[in-house]
Amino acid sequence: METKEQQPIPFALPDIGREEEEAVLRVLRSGWLTTGKEAISFEKEFAEAVSAHSALAVNSATAGLHLAAEALGVCPGDKVVTTPFTFTSTAEILRYLGADPIFADIDEETLTIDPRCVAEILDREPKIKGVIPVHLGGRMAEMDRIVSEAKKRGLFVIEDAAHAFPLSYKGKAAGTIGDAGVFSFYATKTITTGEGGMVVTDNEALAKRMSVMRLHGIDRDVWDRYSSSKGSWRYAVVAAGYKYNLTDLAAAIGRVQLKRAQEFKERRCRIASYYEAELGGIEALKLPKPPGRKEDHAWHLFIVRLRPGYSAIDRDGMVEALKARGIGTSVHYIALHLMPYYRSRYNLSPEQFPVATAVSNSCFSLPIYPSMSDGQVERVVEAIKELLSPNRRRTQTQ
Ligand SMILES: Cc1ncc(COP(=O)(O)O)c(C=O)c1O
Repeated sequence: METKEQQPIPFALPDIGREEEEAVLRVLRSGWLTTGKEAISFEKEFAEAVSAHSALAVNSATAGLHLAAEALGVCPGDKVVTTPFTFTSTAEILRYLGADPIFADIDEETLTIDPRCVAEILDREPKIKGVIPVHLGGRMAEMDRIVSEAKKRGLFVIEDAAHAFPLSYKGKAAGTIGDAGVFSFYATKTITTGEGGMVVTDNEALAKRMSVMRLHGIDRDVWDRYSSSKGSWRYAVVAAGYKYNLTDLAAAIGRVQLKRAQEFKERRCRIASYYEAELGGIEALKLPKPPGRKEDHAWHLFIVRLRPGYSAIDRDGMVEALKARGIGTSVHYIALHLMPYYRSRYNLSPEQFPVATAVSNSCFSLPIYPSMSDGQVERVVEAIKELLSPNRRRTQTQ
């Protein structure tokens, strides 16, 4: 039989234990499956964890981003600045509202939106409503500069914190620095509920609007109607809302994962340090910029890049070669300006975003998750060393 050390290493694997299983069983047997007590407790516990006034559980970060943009008044014809180096959710939610993303190139080192490009766009473009930075792979975007550029022009900031739990920035949690922050609990994220997300804000009016729009534009949620002594049937529809609530089944998993978040992070940090120590000397490979002494990193992703001209193998070849050795990788991201929809709708070219284009063509992400054994991490390192060794380059180019 294959031991764990011989089995294929998936790119990502959720860490679901006995406590999560028991939590789901408890909810299944309780008779209440949709949004109720568990979701309310999850929200309270999450709000506490990030020191936010309000946290709203939603069924995805995409839903959360949509709710936040709607509540902040994004309307048809508006423009919002964001990064092209992200998943499509960050930009597509603007299209839901009839608004348009304006992409700003990214910083070569951090791969997060470049505040200089943001400022340049804000000076040039009319009708900009706000900025959506992404804390890519668990590295904080440069929030001081982004918030200051936005606030001096009266614009909102929504933090796409899908990769950023737990992560802190100058004593504050990621997601609590802008007007709203949105976390993802998708299956591969740092904590998971299968599908799910959380929107946090300190702005009460914003929280109220998002809470109403999260459930059909109804002024009372289902649990409130069910458990209230004022009567269970009366409610008012005050807007054409959405169906974005999180089930109690998912919330119960999330509550357990939340308790384990720090332990998960410690393991990811150890794996990142090992990768840095072992792969740092390979000329052909550019590693993610390590956080500075006072900086934090959630290490959701470990994104490496192949330096052009340093190896005989290109990125696609590397992904395939690692796959052949039983090692799963992924690509974060093919930048949005290279995607057919955004490219053709906004007439974008690769040259407009030189950094995002170059990174997009050379990056791939290594597995980094808490249940990886030391042996598996070593296998990843050995395979990369073998594939990128200078000897191999010589024999391949001869
Ligand atoms: C940067 C970023 N934003 C938003 C999302 C959307 O998250 P969800 O799948 O929870 O909707 C993702 C998902 O992968 C993401 O990577």
